Amino acid sequence: MTPQSIDKIQIEKLRHRVLSWFERNGRDLPWRQNYSPYGVWISEIMLQQTQVKTVIPYFLRWMERFPDPAAVAAAGERDVLLAWEGLGYYTRAKNIHRTAQVLVRDFGGAVPADFNALIALPGIGRYTAGAILSIAFELDFPAVDANAARILRRVFHGSDSSGPVLSETALRKLAVQILPKGRARQFNQALMDVGATICLPESPRCDLCPLAEFCEARKHGIAGLEPGPGRGRPATPIEVSIGVIVRDGRIFIQKRPDGGLMPNLWEFPGGKVREGESPEAAVVREIEEELGIGVRPVEKLARLRHSYTRFRVALHAYLCEIRGPASGKEPVLRAAVECRWVLPAELALYPFPAANRKLIGILLDRFANSA
Ligand code: ADE
Repeated sequence: MTPQSIDKIQIEKLRHRVLSWFERNGRDLPWRQNYSPYGVWISEIMLQQTQVKTVIPYFLRWMERFPDPAAVAAAGERDVLLAWEGLGYYTRAKNIHRTAQVLVRDFGGAVPADFNALIALPGIGRYTAGAILSIAFELDFPAVDANAARILRRVFHGSDSSGPVLSETALRKLAVQILPKGRARQFNQALMDVGATICLPESPRCDLCPLAEFCEARKHGIAGLEPGPGRGRPATPIEVSIGVIVRDGRIFIQKRPDGGLMPNLWEFPGGKVREGESPEAAVVREIEEELGIGVRPVEKLARLRHSYTRFRVALHAYLCEIRGPASGKEPVLRAAVECRWVLPAELALYPFPAANRKLIGILLDRFANSA
């Protein structure tokens, strides 16, 4: 079935099936309580690269901490990053901060109900603008995220899976064509929910799907077979060594630069273990390279595992002392933009990458016990 070939009666039937499915099965999510434009915007940014179940507690805490755009705009960047800590892709938090400042300055502290104004804001693209306009303002805009795109590809393009994958523009046109006027809020969210719970990438549950009777991919028995970007690529294992350098009861931390990965987050110095190198040797080398000081690892504090983008990371953490006459010497920052010597209890005041939280817990226990 191509978009041209769906007749009006079929489209009406499809809309009806999707909307009544949503009434009965739509997920009860915190940003669906009152559909405030601010809450919808924050939830959409959080959901851009993160799963619903991870986002929920962050969203609830965020709305408590920053009840409106003015509260975000007035906060310091460190507080904003701290509220985001653990969600990853920190540029999103920085964009929210900058956008909140624009909203206060140019839009009376409100999220505008205008497509062009929205896409001009940091971190808001076509999809997010469509999601905000439809979900918060009930305007007739499509919102085609990865889930909705998969559904549309399957429903309308399944019979021709060997041909070119429908372009983003083609998908958006399709989404506009099938959108029921005045019901964009429910319809778009229904597609998101069907995509997240039923029309799954690997094993779609077609028996539960409100779109099953319209679906070309299902008719041809190929739902679940079409290639999805990036799927099936195995995670790359890497080893990273970091050093907790202690001097006079204080711990050395450094701030990452504004651009690049995990911008503006604080961290312990260290880096990737090279092939054939021991994790202890790596931490000594990395600290020499990053700070120009010699250290001695005196104790292994932890070996932690975590996943980061497509890497499966084994993180080795060492308690380190500064060696010999250098102990009075201040580190020279070569990788970081700022550094501090902090008391263990102060570590909680700084935004760190999620993987460091467990280590900070270990440090707090350790220093509490040795005090
Ligand atoms: N993913 C992106 N936006 C969403 C929303 N509003 N509800 C559920 N999942 C989503």
